[in-house]
Amino acid sequence: TDMPDWSLRSNLLSIKGVPLLESIAMHWERVEAFQAVPGDLLIATYPKAGTTWTQEIVDLIMNDGKKEECMRAPTHIRMPFLEISTPNKIMSGFQLLQVMAPPRVIKTHLPIQLVPHSFWENRCKVIYVARNAKDTAVSYYHFSRMNQVQPDPGTWPEYLDKFMRGELPWGSWYDHVKGYWKEKEKKNMLYLFFEDMKEDPRREVLRIAGFLGRHVPVDTIDNIVQLTTFAAMKNNPMANYSTVPDSIFDRKASEFLRKGEVGDWQNHFSSQQSAVFDEHYRRVIADTPVPFRFLL
Ligand code: A3P
Repeated sequence: TDMPDWSLRSNLLSIKGVPLLESIAMHWERVEAFQAVPGDLLIATYPKAGTTWTQEIVDLIMNDGKKEECMRAPTHIRMPFLEISTPNKIMSGFQLLQVMAPPRVIKTHLPIQLVPHSFWENRCKVIYVARNAKDTAVSYYHFSRMNQVQPDPGTWPEYLDKFMRGELPWGSWYDHVKGYWKEKEKKNMLYLFFEDMKEDPRREVLRIAGFLGRHVPVDTIDNIVQLTTFAAMKNNPMANYSTVPDSIFDRKASEFLRKGEVGDWQNHFSSQQSAVFDEHYRRVIADTPVPFRFLL
């Protein structure tokens, strides 16, 4: 409620060709110089790919499926958002990380070429989550309507054009998903898909646990799957961003946990928009065909 006006409906500034929120770009040097240490885990995504969902699964795995442990604080306090910085520090990742004892679980939306070098130097594990472009665009549109820190999304057709041109905060979705895909064998990386998580959450929870080197008993896995359904997270005040004030997240416009489905794009794309999008998509993804599914 005491958020100064100047940080709302943010401008974008380019960092090495990637449009970022002004508040992030202004503090770029300290993001770039961030010191990850061995054992830190990075959860990287393009916005709206299922970051929060994956964070909750990871935190539960690391805490042996104990619900109360994972309700110790809201998502963004438990697993700070590396590059974000807001004037009243409400979600500021940098300040949180300075006082947090490693090893840490760190969220980022940065494309791979902007991830601080210390993560690679220390061979930190990275979990990348990708979601099909059409559902991502729809989810990001609704999120931008509600999150007053994001630039004003305008109309859906205007927004879709910006998505296709890579003009939204954190840049091109296409470059983002391809950038991590190309590096996944060289880096210590698990590349996940939102659609796989929806199709078989248990299988994906097991994959994540395996990647983290955790042996998790069957009962605990089942418990984690139950605690990370859309409905369970929507009702969990420590996993649904309900602690962010209405002055930033305008809940009359949309909700953070909005639908959580695969294929909701069909309710937003006209057949004409879909055809134009598909044609452009085929051209842009051709050099690195990441195997997305647009429907289950
Ligand atoms: P929708 O807008 O399509 O509902 P992020 O955390 O990366 O910002 O992604 C947010 C998207 O993930 C939202 O998509 C949100 O509803 C969805 N989501 C969050 N938790 C989920 C869960 N447990 N199951 C399915 N979808 C979830």
